[in-house]
Amino acid sequence: MQSRHSMNNKKPYIKWILIIGALLIAASITVWMYLHDWDMERSLDALTGNDAEERIEEVQEEDVVIPEEEAEDAKDNLPVTPEPDEEVAEEEVKDATVYPESIELPEEPAIVDGILLVNKQNPLPSDYAPGVNPEAKSAFDEMRADALEAGIDLIAFSTFRDFTRQKELYEGYVAKDGQEKADRYSARPGFSEHQTGLAFDIGETGQEQHWAAASFGDTEAGKWVADNAHRYGYILRYPEGKEQLTGYMHESWHFRYVGKQVATEIFEAGLTLEEYLEQ
Ligand code: DAL
Ligand code: ZN
Repeated sequence: MQSRHSMNNKKPYIKWILIIGALLIAASITVWMYLHDWDMERSLDALTGNDAEERIEEVQEEDVVIPEEEAEDAKDNLPVTPEPDEEVAEEEVKDATVYPESIELPEEPAIVDGILLVNKQNPLPSDYAPGVNPEAKSAFDEMRADALEAGIDLIAFSTFRDFTRQKELYEGYVAKDGQEKADRYSARPGFSEHQTGLAFDIGETGQEQHWAAASFGDTEAGKWVADNAHRYGYILRYPEGKEQLTGYMHESWHFRYVGKQVATEIFEAGLTLEEYLEQ
């Protein structure tokens, strides 16, 4: 009896321990699940020590395809690290000495900011033949008169040349020097400023040995024209060291009429016509 009695007393005690234990386990599971956003997988991973956050990140990096728009947004938020050669690659290196591979002569001449522009990239219609520009002619006459007072007798030994005349000249130079060399100093027909009537090749009367020669730039007359032509509206069209910009080698004798204001601006800024017109 004694032992049965003690057995009966023990049973409810064990029963309550089991109930409380079960409740504690259930409560722990509930809290654990709550802490892991009610996600069974994450809760189990946390329990077994797997780093669920890391795994999720790996999955996102490897497997998730980010829609294009979001990807663009994400890119926008990245710190910008310029590629080392980016700027150099973007900057287009101009070479005005090269004729475009195929360029047909246009219907009209190119006028940029009110200025007629003729070079290897901007030809003229073959029938464009205005003759000597009267304004350029009177500006030259004025310059000539002032130069005479300084003891210098200027002459314009070549002014307007039509398409046909330029063709004859160019073909003669190609026959003599070959095309590559000729292209550095003579314009192809349709590409010469002389066809505008605004270009004057200037020399000194009786000094033919310096006409159309680099040596003209070293003579008193050549220096006077280089220093003063802008006051009459002329610019030295092909300055030394600017072949890549103008398309032609230095010509100390070739002057182009652009009007007094523009010529003075170009002279004082030390620019070529192409630079002044941002071409
Ligand atoms: N000598 C210049 C470039 C011309 O032929 O027009
Ligand atoms: Zn010329």
